Amino acid sequence: MEQRRLGHEGPLVSAIGLGCMSIGIADVYTSSVQDDEKAVELIHRALDLGINFLDTANIYGDSELKVGKALRGCRNEVVLATKFGIVMGSDLHNRGVDGSPESVHRNCDESLKRLGVDHIDLYYLHRVDPQVPIEETVGAMAELVKAGKVRHLGLSEAAPNTVRRAYKVHPIAALQNEYSLFTRDPEEELLPVLRELGIALVAYSPLGRGFLGARFRSVDDLAPGDWRRGNPRFQGEQFARNLAIVDRLQEIAEEKHCTAAQLALAWLLHRNPDVIPIPGTSSIGRLEENIGAVQISFNDEDFNRIEAVLPKGAVGGERYAPEMMKILNG
Ligand SMILES: NC(=O)c1ccc[n+]([C@@H]2O[C@H](COP(=O)([O-])OP(=O)(O)OC[C@H]3O[C@@H](n4cnc5c(N)ncnc54)[C@H](OP(=O)(O)O)[C@@H]3O)[C@@H](O)[C@H]2O)c1
Repeated sequence: MEQRRLGHEGPLVSAIGLGCMSIGIADVYTSSVQDDEKAVELIHRALDLGINFLDTANIYGDSELKVGKALRGCRNEVVLATKFGIVMGSDLHNRGVDGSPESVHRNCDESLKRLGVDHIDLYYLHRVDPQVPIEETVGAMAELVKAGKVRHLGLSEAAPNTVRRAYKVHPIAALQNEYSLFTRDPEEELLPVLRELGIALVAYSPLGRGFLGARFRSVDDLAPGDWRRGNPRFQGEQFARNLAIVDRLQEIAEEKHCTAAQLALAWLLHRNPDVIPIPGTSSIGRLEENIGAVQISFNDEDFNRIEAVLPKGAVGGERYAPEMMKILNG
């Protein structure tokens, strides 16, 4: 498996990581893994296939417990990332943010306990707290590094200026943002800043929350409680528009003898030598398929054909519903 570095000073990780959100939250996606044994089996298969970068968070249901269970006996083979800062409200669509120093320290101790490890390799602030200066949050995170509880720091969904301010307090190894053929927001302003500072971009939802996997024909393919039913891209006219785009991507994929999901991941990997996608899946078959994306070759013609089908901004619908857009750092 190709390796990429997490920032100038960070560790090498597999070019594709494993997103562990849907192994922990029962309702988030239709096929979330709910069984401990299956989750451990999935993670072990990922490690066998060369993935060494696992991504979880304190709010992903019991994901940290499952990841911790899978890591018993093989902790040192893995670069383990988790996050804090989002405070869950009454449902999956209702969230607040707490980046106070007290929250930094308390949440880290709780994550260490759930994971059953003595340190976290990459600790992210999941969302920037508008009430707490970023210097204060990152200052407290830097204390975790000094205490040996955390090795490297990361931010998620932070604006370029916030990244610069944070970096002055402590080196930042990675920024985790949504980035895919459906969400190209990081390209204009954020990626140049990250490259200047030597920070890796960890691309979350690289398959457009499954849409780019070309398995859904209608919103009825999603279970009644699936979080995506509330996501603008999966609704009504936007769903139809996005489905038509995905059908055309699927044709390109077939011509390249790969799947649509592999095409979407290979596009990210080839376009950006410093981006590390972390697709999530509940299926060993699809995990194997996703890892296969590192083998796919890409040339200028491939980029041009994909751009013609899906130019920037062509996707229908915002990436989050309004209540979750509010907690992004603009
Ligand atoms: N920092 C943040 O705010 C944030 C937000 C969201 C996610 N994340 C992180 O990013 C990770 C990945 O994001 P995500 O899970 O939201 O979205 P994603 O990786 O874009 O998509 C996951 C969905 O794609 C499906 N899928 C996976 N491989 C597939 C394939 N080869 N063909 C067809 N469908 C496929 C999965 O279904 P099956 O299970 O049925 O395979 C799942 O429903 C998460 O696990 C989490 O660690 C971070």
